[in-house]
Amino acid sequence: MRMYDIIQKKRDGGELSDEEIKFFVNGAVDGSIPDYQLSALLMAVYFREMSEREISVLTQAMAESGDTVNLSAIDGFTVDKHSTGGVGDKTTLIVAPIVAALGGKVAKMSGRGLGHTGGTVDKLESIIGFKTELAREDFFRQVNETGISVIGQSGNLAPADKKLYALRDVTATVESIPLIASSIMSKKLAAGSQGIVLDVKTGSGAFMKTVEKSKALAEEMVRIGTAAGRKMTAVITNMDIPLGRAIGNSLEVIEAVETLNGRGCGDLAEVCFCLAANMLMLVNGKSYEDNFADVKASVADGSALSKLRQMVEYQGGNPEWIDNTELFPKAKYEYKVISSRSGYINRMDAEKIGIASVILGAGREKKEDSVDFSAGIILEKKTCDKVEKGDTLAVFHTNDESKIEEAEKRFLSALEFAENEVEKQPLIYETITG
Ligand code: URA
Repeated sequence: MRMYDIIQKKRDGGELSDEEIKFFVNGAVDGSIPDYQLSALLMAVYFREMSEREISVLTQAMAESGDTVNLSAIDGFTVDKHSTGGVGDKTTLIVAPIVAALGGKVAKMSGRGLGHTGGTVDKLESIIGFKTELAREDFFRQVNETGISVIGQSGNLAPADKKLYALRDVTATVESIPLIASSIMSKKLAAGSQGIVLDVKTGSGAFMKTVEKSKALAEEMVRIGTAAGRKMTAVITNMDIPLGRAIGNSLEVIEAVETLNGRGCGDLAEVCFCLAANMLMLVNGKSYEDNFADVKASVADGSALSKLRQMVEYQGGNPEWIDNTELFPKAKYEYKVISSRSGYINRMDAEKIGIASVILGAGREKKEDSVDFSAGIILEKKTCDKVEKGDTLAVFHTNDESKIEEAEKRFLSALEFAENEVEKQPLIYETITG
């Protein structure tokens, strides 16, 4: 078999055989196919797309390209969630403890932030001492004893995806439904949970900018997971504005604790409660309404917050930081961004706001960069809010004063104002079940 023929076939709109797909996935992992040929194939897939069969075979081949996690040592129904990536997206920190408090088993592997989007592993590591690498037996034991553990993705989970994703990132081939669906689902299938809820983001801060495209992506991922024997749900949620008010690692953990204390920002709580209720439906088969009521009760009675506290304690962090978030180290500089005009905020470009927080130190430009855990942005105003000249739009937190000017420019370029009141957009567009 020759890679040249595979590229040519896809370039001309042909359908690849199972063997051809497995050939290039194996070649990506063992290094026998050079990057330029893999990149050419990715571009051909970008333009010519793939059939459902091709996407399923590609996903399975990537899932089997490295370690697969067998969660059968865990008693009870294992349930996972995955977000397609966003700004201020701290949902895992809220949803996982709620689901664990209500009987689901959350054995979760999360990623780090890259580019304008944050990652759960970085957020958790802002709790000094918190271990995101655990031996397999310790991970299983913790989930059996407490119902929850969130760790970093093992280095050898879906290595074919790692290779192809890095090439897509630099060849303008990320925004492709077959490639995103197979990338995400290969990792989810390899991570082993019986039920999976996908939070498919749509809007300016998401990879898919329109609801139609997000829906097509969600349907494809639900189809792949269902065919692989997993219980699947996808929820399409708004990422036209950052979720909640905090962007940046420790700032987001603090906001998650506030939300689990029942004092969170309305949009964040609404999305989290919806995701948690959908996960619980896969666990217990009860209705959405019943689970939603249980979710709210787990926050009101403090049992969800206790689960987060317990996870922090088991994984080496100081649980007192959850009781008293004043213990999180603060950034040296707090800078208020002041509005030079009055009006209503008509639009916020979530991607630009994410980049402003990266400039302040909250994210990494390159994989090997380290992050400043206390850096980030607290939004004082969001889309639809009325603003008077002189009002504070946001507060920047940073340890590098020299970055403030550039971050402010980027932040202000993300805002659009209107003279009149602005209509609220939906937060949750649609739920798709397998
Ligand atoms: N997240 C992934 O893991 N893969 C993609 O292709 C896009 C988002």
